Amino acid sequence: MPVPWEALIPFGLVTALFGAAGTLLNVSKRAQNQGKPPRYHIDSWEEMMMDRDQRLTGHARKQTSEPVAPEGFETSSVWYTEKTQ
Ligand SMILES: *[C@@H]1O[C@H](CO)[C@@H](O)[C@H](O)[C@H]1NC(C)=O
Repeated sequence: MPVPWEALIPFGLVTALFGAAGTLLNVSKRAQNQGKPPRYHIDSWEEMMMDRDQRLTGHARKQTSEPVAPEGFETSSVWYTEKTQ
């Protein structure tokens, strides 16, 4: 049975480089999310909760169980206004 050995080098290269790209993307996404998997399909409620987490902890993916809000929490929110036409 003829085996196309010469095709194994490009096949190995393509496989290795797809693996390297995927691993680097995984590492990059996790580094931006404090080691957690990235969030997908975020709705406006979850965006508001991530805004709140950002104001409470300094990062949108970090959470706290501290019952007292940090200094300046009362005044750090944003009032979103309607977009004009
Ligand atoms: C990304 O990396 C994490 C651990 O570092 C692993 O659990 C996860 O399966 C990886 N995801 C992919 C798509 O390789």
